[in-house]
Amino acid sequence: MKIAAIALAAAGALAASVAAAQSADDLIKKHGCAACHSNDKKIVGPAYVDVAAKYKGDATAPAKLIEKVKKGGQGVWGPVPMPPNPSVPDADLKTIVTHILSLKK
Ligand code: HEC
Repeated sequence: MKIAAIALAAAGALAASVAAAQSADDLIKKHGCAACHSNDKKIVGPAYVDVAAKYKGDATAPAKLIEKVKKGGQGVWGPVPMPPNPSVPDADLKTIVTHILSLKK
C-alpha cells in the first residue's frame, strides 16, 4: 500500500511538471511567438536557449523581458525588430518568460 502511494505521488509530480512545460509551449504557440522563435534555433528572433544563456544570473531579466515582449524593440540581437505584443496577458507573459529563462542548451 505504502509503495503504491509513493508511486502515485511521484507520477502526480511528474505529470504536474510536464503540464507546466506544455502550457508554456502552448502559450508560445497560441500567442504567435513560435512564428519567429523556437527553443533551439534562430528563426526571425533569437533561439530561446540563447536568450536564457544571455540573461543567466540577471535577476532583473524577467521584468525586463516581459516589458520588451509587450512593447517590442530591436538592437539587442540585431537590426530586425520584434513587433509589440500588447494583447498577451501579463500572467501568460510571466509563464512564457519564466519558461524561456529556464531553458538550457
Ligand atoms: C515577427 C517576429 C516576432 C514575433 C511574433 C515575436 N518575436 Fe520575440 N523577437 C523577435 C526579434 C527580431 C527579436 C530580437 C529583438 C532585438 O534584437 O532586440 C526578439 C526578441 C525576443 C526576446 C529577447 C529580448 C531581448 O531584449 O533580449 C524575447 C524574450 C522574445 N523575443 C520573446 C517573444 C515572445 C514571448 C513572443 C510572443 C508573445 C515573441 N517574442 C514574438 C521577433 C519576434
